[in-house]
Amino acid sequence: MNFAKVTARLSGLGSEKWAVHIEGRRRASDGRPMIFLSIGEPDSPPPATILEEAARQMQAGRIRYAEGRGEANVRRALAGLYTRQTGRAIHENQFIYLPGTQTALFAAMMTVVDEGDEVLMADPYYATYEGVIAAAGGIPAPIRVDPDQGFHLKATDLEKAITPRSRVLLMNSPSNPTGAVFTRAEIEKIGAVCERHDLWIVSDEVYATMTYGNAVFASPFDVPALEKRTIVVSSISKSHAVPGFRSGWIAASAEFCERCIPVTETMLFGSQPFLEDATAFALGHHFAEVDAMKRNYEARARALVKALGSSRKVSARMPEGGMFVMIDVRKTGLTGEAFAWRLLEEEDVVTMPGESFGAGGAGHLRVALTVGEDEITEACRRIARLAERI
Ligand SMILES: Cc1ncc(COP(=O)(O)O)c(C=O)c1O
Repeated sequence: MNFAKVTARLSGLGSEKWAVHIEGRRRASDGRPMIFLSIGEPDSPPPATILEEAARQMQAGRIRYAEGRGEANVRRALAGLYTRQTGRAIHENQFIYLPGTQTALFAAMMTVVDEGDEVLMADPYYATYEGVIAAAGGIPAPIRVDPDQGFHLKATDLEKAITPRSRVLLMNSPSNPTGAVFTRAEIEKIGAVCERHDLWIVSDEVYATMTYGNAVFASPFDVPALEKRTIVVSSISKSHAVPGFRSGWIAASAEFCERCIPVTETMLFGSQPFLEDATAFALGHHFAEVDAMKRNYEARARALVKALGSSRKVSARMPEGGMFVMIDVRKTGLTGEAFAWRLLEEEDVVTMPGESFGAGGAGHLRVALTVGEDEITEACRRIARLAERI
């Protein structure tokens, strides 16, 4: 049988990246005790009242078809959130509620990318970006960022990478995998380049609430001049530890939303009202559990950096935000991929090779901060031990 070209474009962008993790799972199911640092799935339970709200609304009959762009209550909650964040009036017609950031990314790309258009992004980048660009017929245009400069994309490097086919800058701050967080000044410089070359900015802000130390979250959407070209994609998957809710959104100009809604409606025909209610509730309240999760991730990252501090062969910088740390294994002479496989086989620790996130991740491991400090410290002891043996 013949299949559409999109299936060929997307083949090879899936399971290969996760091969170490999949093999780790297989070993664990055979009874081997493994330490998993591979997947960014929050390990803490969500605030109980969010679950109660979802259950209450479901019981109350909020299980009918929803408005295609999202129910009024969740869009009102989002308007409140972004009005507070940007300091400008952001209206309810500037949002589309969608099942998670991933769907929002897909819808955004389908709305602004034509076949052959280039989508620029810092390399290393989140593992699904190539696929979501290719699905829309676009061409990923990775821009290497320097690990020794904290993996920050420079406006000058962005400008050099632009071609007549460049259409979009896909940015992600705080970044998965690198933990880099753009400053407002960096965003303004990058934004000026995007304005000069009339690029859309798709800004993946799924880790917006998780910044550490002196890092402060900033978005291109906050910059008034960039509002019309910025498409924010985000969710409560990470911030409130409910990835299975698939609760996310697009925040953009009203014009963008009008153009995008037919794309999302042909795909989804609306979301689940009771989950939209629970998301509105989550966005409208403050939760001690959410603060505690953030503190936990930061403490774990500090524990990791400290545990590797005495190694001569491997090192890690404190991330500025997000749920991940890049461990630099370049001094061992191995690729991230080869190191990750040996770590799995010889030390029962499961990580992601940096190369799974693009060539810019070469010679690194990406680890998720989703296990306790003791386990992280033990994993680091084994990582350093393997590095010494190499
Ligand atoms: C950078 C980034 N974007 C998007 C997603 C997907 O998030 P969601 O659960 O909201 O679809 C993830 C999940 O790990 C992520 O790390």
